[in-house]
Amino acid sequence: MGWGMKNRLARIFNQNSGKTVMLAVDHGYFQGPTTGLKQPRETITPLLPYSDCLFVTRGVLRNCVSPATNTPIFLRVSGGPSVLGELSNEDIITSMKEALRLNAAGVGISIFVGEKNEDRTISNLGKVVNEAEEYGMPVLAITAVGKEMARDARYLGLACRIAAEIGAHMVKTYYCEEDFDKVVEGCPVPIVIAGGKKIPEREALQMAYNAISKGAAGVDMGRNIFQSEAPAAMVQAVRAVVHENYTVNEAFELFNQLKGKKAVSSVVE
Ligand code: R5P
Repeated sequence: MGWGMKNRLARIFNQNSGKTVMLAVDHGYFQGPTTGLKQPRETITPLLPYSDCLFVTRGVLRNCVSPATNTPIFLRVSGGPSVLGELSNEDIITSMKEALRLNAAGVGISIFVGEKNEDRTISNLGKVVNEAEEYGMPVLAITAVGKEMARDARYLGLACRIAAEIGAHMVKTYYCEEDFDKVVEGCPVPIVIAGGKKIPEREALQMAYNAISKGAAGVDMGRNIFQSEAPAAMVQAVRAVVHENYTVNEAFELFNQLKGKKAVSSVVE
């Protein structure tokens, strides 16, 4: 692994805990103006100081994120269909040159194992990895996003392993209660979990705690942070679980303590 790739990965993963809290705000690329992201700048700006990196499309990055931010950027480079169409019909929509121009610390692409366009999306991952290797750019493969997925360990294990075999440097997938540790064991690259639909804060913290306990390298969480009643408090509580080994009770207590307080003003507006 070259210096550039190592440096980018070192910016994404906290040097003390070895883990990462990524803030996912890319939902609009197929869902349009999602609840909590109707005005992306307002949502994103106060959360940037607490995020190890921001997972975002180039459009929101250019228009809604200050170029003065020090938070590393993970750029979504796949897309195509909307929520009204066939979700697996994705292609590569942002070039590696563009990712480099935008000073991305990594790029993310979805694969749709078991869905209509499984083979094309996996082959797209291979193409992105081929190019990314030339420039030292980490690639995150996003698995198990689909309308009808049975998100059990067997399926998640299959999807994550395929992503790693094709060359992804990291994989994002969902947490499953049963045998998540086996999903991690079967995947030779770090796994971060997506948060999924909004659930009560304590349950989301429990999910993050369980995932970390079973070997996840962090979270790439969106709705359970930015749709929280107190997003800045929630991202800090998630950080406490991921980076500081807080128990769920301790993290929920922290959330409750912080939720009444105003978030620290971001250095970038
Ligand atoms: C899904 O395709 C998007 O990539 C999201 O970034 C991902 O699902 C994580 O967001 P959430 O925690 O809201 O599920």
